[in-house]
Amino acid sequence: MTSGTSFRRVPYHLGIVMDGNGRWAQARGMPRLLGHRGGVNNIRPVLEASVGFGIKALTIYAFSTENWARPPAEVSGLMKLLSETIRRQLADLHANGVQIRHSGRMAGIEPGLQQQIRDALELTKNNQRIILNVAFNYGGRAEIVDAVRQIIQDGLKPDDVSEDVFARYLYTGGLPDPDLIIRTGGEYRLSNFLIWQAAYAEYYATPTFWPDFDKEELRRALQDFEDRDRRFGKVKTPS
Ligand code: IPE
Ligand code: IPE
Ligand code: MG
Repeated sequence: MTSGTSFRRVPYHLGIVMDGNGRWAQARGMPRLLGHRGGVNNIRPVLEASVGFGIKALTIYAFSTENWARPPAEVSGLMKLLSETIRRQLADLHANGVQIRHSGRMAGIEPGLQQQIRDALELTKNNQRIILNVAFNYGGRAEIVDAVRQIIQDGLKPDDVSEDVFARYLYTGGLPDPDLIIRTGGEYRLSNFLIWQAAYAEYYATPTFWPDFDKEELRRALQDFEDRDRRFGKVKTPS
């Protein structure tokens, strides 16, 4: 892996909406599922590039709560892909110091795959090189509803609930908010991704389909991020 970075500032936590797999495949006359396979194959190199640039946490949007509405064959293909990827890549990710996290609802995921996910989290929980947070069966609204339910269940009183306390109840509890969100595939929308956590994230959209998004594209996004003036509601600090 490359080390060091030429950037004055890099995101601590990067989020990526990995969009455009289907169109990437269709443009090649291939079925959509082969696009998803191409997309999965692209995760590892982008993860390595992220480590090289000094990013500490990478959240990838892999399957949304809305994606269940796709044709059953595509949904089951995506489930099989995650299962296969864990089976094939877990040992290597672990050996490379990757801490895997999951953001999303476990309910709804097939029990065997749930177990694979739990095993992956358990195996890698002490790894420190980079956090790979997989947003799978993830929806920002579902996440907020789940947090509210748990807060009620825990018996918190209205005055106990602050923004910090609430954030700890989200699937991402303990992770700092994302600094930059990249969306591939050319759309300019959130699609229910990290809607609480990205309140002050910078956004970057590229028309490149996810399977073609490479280290050079990531470098361009980071370059763009470096030049952003993040004001967080304040006025620009005089230089
Ligand atoms: C993103 O690619 C992957 C998932 C949503 C699972 P798409 O499958 O949405 O690809 P397009 O947007 O249809 O090209
Ligand atoms: C967002 O992409 C979800 C993932 C990348 C997993 P979609 O393709 O599902 O989003 P829309 O339908 O274009 O908003
Ligand atoms: Mg899409």
